Amino acid sequence: MTHFSFNPMDPEMLQDPYPTFQKLRDTDPIHRSDLGFWVATRYEDCRSVLIDKEFGQGDFSKNIQLFYDDSFDVLAQPAYAWLSRVFVMQDPPQHTRVRDLVAGALTHKRVREMAPRIRQLARQQLHQFAKSDDGNFITDFAYLFPTLVMCDMLGMEEGEFSWELLAELNQAVADTFPVFETRALAPEELALANSQMEFLTEFFDDLFQRRKKNPRDDLTTAMVKAGDGGDALTKEELSTSVIGLFGAGFETTAHMIGNGLFCLGDNPDQRRKLQGNIDLVDAAVEEILRYESSLQATYRTALEPREIAGQKIEVGDRVLTIVAAANRDERHFDNPEAFDISPREQKPLTFGGGIHYCVGAALARLEGRIFLEELFSQYPNFSVDVESARLRGAFLFRGYQDLRVQLRG
Ligand code: HEM
Repeated sequence: MTHFSFNPMDPEMLQDPYPTFQKLRDTDPIHRSDLGFWVATRYEDCRSVLIDKEFGQGDFSKNIQLFYDDSFDVLAQPAYAWLSRVFVMQDPPQHTRVRDLVAGALTHKRVREMAPRIRQLARQQLHQFAKSDDGNFITDFAYLFPTLVMCDMLGMEEGEFSWELLAELNQAVADTFPVFETRALAPEELALANSQMEFLTEFFDDLFQRRKKNPRDDLTTAMVKAGDGGDALTKEELSTSVIGLFGAGFETTAHMIGNGLFCLGDNPDQRRKLQGNIDLVDAAVEEILRYESSLQATYRTALEPREIAGQKIEVGDRVLTIVAAANRDERHFDNPEAFDISPREQKPLTFGGGIHYCVGAALARLEGRIFLEELFSQYPNFSVDVESARLRGAFLFRGYQDLRVQLRG
């Protein structure tokens, strides 16, 4: 038998990872990659790792060092130093402290209250896109719409930023988020991530300063105020968290929208089904999240020894939990390789599980629902050019860099 090792940079795998996921689920469900980490692909195994408190984030520098040689100073890189402080990368009690603050702004009730404004933004941006039809839907709608929702949430009003600045912020997040990937970054990629992180930090530090001087009823002010009490959030914690929240708030959602539109374009029967019964919209969003998850995987470090599927995981070992593979596990879902918007009983693992379960899940689902409702009601003749669509070529954050769409058909 030829030796196989999971490689998140293999171009063939990046184009279509699902056959590799199937092979791993069937023959090597807890796989030891030559890159030095374990890879979990079955639903039950991924879930059990994510909800197990004995799997945490562990030693950040050591985990990143795995991809570089010993002389590489992880925390001397501003982009990795930032990542080491983001609460998704931390264990309790530090994780809990910041998460509680952010989660308070994203409760189901708060998110529901945002719905009319989100609809207004979706309508306005679709209308804008329709004016110059046949543009790149990813840059000209999919990124803009959730970015504007995040700006609203953070209380960044129009007038406080220009369209050019928004595009720069989008680009800065896209350039820094490769630090999440499970691989070494090329020197020029890392240099770009570092300088873009400095730009983002300056931008958000400045925003906090303004809210400190002129408090308002928004999340930015709430975070600044939370920094006034005894259990203060430091200036560094403030900008770290808000950059994480801002980026997480649109990077994955933008590609949920793009991937969803591609799936509907590629599956005309499912598009017709939704067109004929828009009440299926929530199930359609769930199916988009399951079938082509815009965040393919997350990882954990063993804090205690564990045995999974017969493999002994030692303390300090890293496990890559590929939620996109779990979402296609036939042990858990009926007919998982089919994109089918009929409601399914089983929930996908796209938003993770356990203490790091996505705090923005309700918001992301609502944005998906409102986007589809507006698209199907305002532009029922839309067309998607699936043939010319180009993927962005990243493993962790899966989506298109170019997707041509005509709203007027
Ligand atoms: C389709 C869209 C989205 C997907 C697929 C997604 C996926 C995920 C996943 C899998 C995790 C868990 C990571 C882990 O366990 O290591 C996570 C965490 C997180 N997500 Fe999302 N997310 C989405 C949208 C959002 C939005 C809209 C926001 C903010 C408004 C957001 C903010 C966060 C934050 C702050 C965390 C860290 C939570 C923690 O560590 O406690 N996400 N997300």
